[in-house]
Amino acid sequence: MNSVFIAVSIDGYIAREDGDIEWLTSIPAPPGEDYGFKEFMNRIDAVVMGRGTYEVIKNFPEWYYSRHVYVLSSKLKEIPDKLKDKASLLSLSPGETVKHLNEKGLTRLYIDGGKTIQGFLKEDLIDEMIITRIPILLGGGIPLFGKLEKDITFEQVETTTYPNGLVKTHYRRIRK
Ligand SMILES: NC(=O)c1ccc[n+]([C@@H]2O[C@H](COP(=O)([O-])OP(=O)(O)OC[C@H]3O[C@@H](n4cnc5c(N)ncnc54)[C@H](OP(=O)(O)O)[C@@H]3O)[C@@H](O)[C@H]2O)c1
Repeated sequence: MNSVFIAVSIDGYIAREDGDIEWLTSIPAPPGEDYGFKEFMNRIDAVVMGRGTYEVIKNFPEWYYSRHVYVLSSKLKEIPDKLKDKASLLSLSPGETVKHLNEKGLTRLYIDGGKTIQGFLKEDLIDEMIITRIPILLGGGIPLFGKLEKDITFEQVETTTYPNGLVKTHYRRIRK
């Protein structure tokens, strides 16, 4: 089971061109609201993240992940000592990554990062997507989705509208 949990602008971007996500992090959340992130983290076994996302979140004052993070990269050589108990490197295709982690008993994976999610979608390895739409147009940036060789259909499981205008939809892959 491979899941996506991500926030996106109306025009489909997850960050500005330079990686900035202040337009997202600066939105005040309703009191005590985490948009279901903690509950989601509690039902996954590990995080699979692209290097682009890792390079951003490793500098955050807070480490958001309560599960081990596997960083996909062909370039990074090592994880700094202070993060070694929280993150490891992998350089495998999406299919090989899933196989490798499933063999370790990690079967519920949180796939994060635009290019990484696109790579998993190209191999039809995404089973559910929880996408929170932010009411902003950025006009450009790092896209969540990209080209596909064939359509991938999902069903809508649930949609939640928050008082601050965010809209979260849970989609589940339909496999015939
Ligand atoms: N809005 C949100 O909720 C949200 C969530 C997550 C991230 N973001 C933002 O999205 C931006 C990053 O997204 P992104 O699309 O640039 O990239 P990304 O998916 O985070 O990272 C892409 C990189 O991951 C590596 N990679 C991916 N698949 C691989 C594979 N199978 N094997 C080896 N390496 C692989 C490659 O790095 P190498 O070049 O090292 O090979 C690739 O360049 C950041 O600004 C982040 O803050 C936003």
